[in-house]
Amino acid sequence: MPDTVVSAGYDRQDAGSYNSGSPAILPQPVLLTGRLCLRPLSRTDRPAIERLADDPDIAHWCSAIPHPLPRTAALSWIAASFAERQHGEAVTYAIERRQDRQFMGGISLSLDKGRGTIGYWLGRRHWNQGYATEALRRLLAFGFEMFSLREISAYTMPDNAASLRVQAKAGMIDQGAVDHVDGFLVRHCLVRAPRKAAPWFNR
Ligand SMILES: CC(C)(COP(=O)(O)OP(=O)(O)OC[C@H]1O[C@@H](n2cnc3c(N)ncnc32)[C@H](O)[C@@H]1OP(=O)(O)O)[C@@H](O)C(=O)NCCC(=O)NCCS
Repeated sequence: MPDTVVSAGYDRQDAGSYNSGSPAILPQPVLLTGRLCLRPLSRTDRPAIERLADDPDIAHWCSAIPHPLPRTAALSWIAASFAERQHGEAVTYAIERRQDRQFMGGISLSLDKGRGTIGYWLGRRHWNQGYATEALRRLLAFGFEMFSLREISAYTMPDNAASLRVQAKAGMIDQGAVDHVDGFLVRHCLVRAPRKAAPWFNR
């Protein structure tokens, strides 16, 4: 099944106004891959988020997801995703399986001065089936196509082997550089502007 942008609703003009520095609501079309539907978060995702994200092994790797998950965390995350999009800061997608429309996790792309940063998580029952790689490739392609970004980064704790593997499979280059984000030691993986040979380009 070919990858598709289901409902653009916006065009590159919108991205241009973002890149010029003025805040503008970000385009966030639904993105399809072979097995996944990446769509904006909805308030109805709350129970699934609470069920899947309340996991010490997710909190361990994601500084923004505490464990135990506070009662208000899921709705706060959903509300923050709406606000960040309105303010031209980030797009956050639910990762949904097309086959049964099951919510499996989230992936977001934050934008800052022509550069993007991606973060993601999946409920543990969905690990090791290639879903994160499929979602990451699609969001990388969307980020470059829609926002004309110069580069997209991911910051990962140095011993998060699964996430570093996902980034490598999606064509991100490990910079080997270790830096601090939010007080945590992280590894920086990067992909620069589109190269036709990049794996995510043909997703
Ligand atoms: C990281 C995460 C999103 C990966 O999702 P996923 O859908 O399982 O990823 P994929 O199936 O696409 O790929 C996982 C790869 O890591 C490998 N892997 C998994 N656990 C591993 C480990 N402990 N050590 C080394 N490799 C590992 C898998 O074998 C697979 O590689 P392969 O296809 O070459 O066999 C998921 O584990 C997760 O949500 N973790 C908690 C949150 C998190 O770490 N988020 C990222 C923060 S930067």
